[in-house]
Amino acid sequence: MTADTSLSFAYEPNSAPVPASERSERLVNPGFGRVFTDHMVTIRYAERKGWHDARVHARTPLQVDPACAVLHYAQEIFEGLKAYRLDDGTTALFRPEANARRFQDSARRMAMPELPEELFLESLRQIVTIDRDWIPTSEGGSLYLRPFMIASEDFLGVKPSAEYLYMVIASSVGAYFKGGAPAVKLWLSQSFTRAAPGGTGAAKCGGNYAASLAAQAEAIRRGYDQVVFLDAAERRWVEELGGMNIFFVMDDGSLITPPLGGTILPGITRDSLITLARDQGMTVREEPYAIEQWQADAESGRLREAFACGTAAVVTPIASVTGENLSFTIGTGGPGQLTEKLRQSLVDIQRARAPGPHGWLQRLD
Ligand code: PLP
Ligand code: COI
Repeated sequence: MTADTSLSFAYEPNSAPVPASERSERLVNPGFGRVFTDHMVTIRYAERKGWHDARVHARTPLQVDPACAVLHYAQEIFEGLKAYRLDDGTTALFRPEANARRFQDSARRMAMPELPEELFLESLRQIVTIDRDWIPTSEGGSLYLRPFMIASEDFLGVKPSAEYLYMVIASSVGAYFKGGAPAVKLWLSQSFTRAAPGGTGAAKCGGNYAASLAAQAEAIRRGYDQVVFLDAAERRWVEELGGMNIFFVMDDGSLITPPLGGTILPGITRDSLITLARDQGMTVREEPYAIEQWQADAESGRLREAFACGTAAVVTPIASVTGENLSFTIGTGGPGQLTEKLRQSLVDIQRARAPGPHGWLQRLD
């Protein structure tokens, strides 16, 4: 399959791109995931042909047969990462090879073909270069890239599809939480779980998110920002939020984060923060943390801060946790010092305002 990695991309420019004045208006306050660029990438896969037909073309609706496999059995995976406009006007991606590898891991779990890392990276370079004018210049703005792959064979038998469609779309984004939420309030889901041992929790597949929506909707209905899940086996160990990993900041300045045991997503932000914290001399323990411990530590003051992290959320302080029969506030209920320090270190590297210690920033021009 080595030939696959050297596919060249056909370029068919959008003949009616959004006019510059209208694009500027859309970029003023883009929110998250509603403003899309002019182009998209597609690459096809067929069992006998391998990866082929790589194209960058106008963003357009898909035409799928009603028997298309993904519509029935949800064989779908995706990624999320951001392209940044740096202060000198150039653009950069943050750790895109890590997303490429996680996309391959997700593909294996979902019995899908693995897209070669170089093709994944080239597809990102292509869309960012072509749609670079869609990267907001506002502080905190970026171009959110959404690579994804669907099973595209028209067949109702339950088996891995023989054909796949890989795509990348791009969305100009600001903060994930409305109003830039200084600290989020969590709803603890005690009736729903997100992932079980042996399941798909560590894969970034659409089905995991579908399974989390009833709990997330319950959180919103009750007036909270996000749902936090416990493990499926004992309903005791804190796992992660619907779309973010979680960290706890203790009174001795150390950090705890749930370990990667196959039921949570191995977040690239999580991994980056562990590395940055250790580089700054902090102790980070990847160990299980129980909900009753969380409450006791918050109440005794042993827990000073807690935060959620992910590509979309960056680093977001957690204000409080509420469940059916518990409710507690973390620290002052507002952003904590160590959380803010880590957020700033990460953002400074992503924006090339501080040197990335690990070659994390991939410049595109
Ligand atoms: N956990 C879940 C369920 C997610 O959807 C995400 C977002 O991608 C994360 C964690 C954080 O992962 P990353 O930091 O790679 O964006
Ligand atoms: C991301 O951060 O990239 C995610 O996929 C999470 C989702 C809540 C947007």
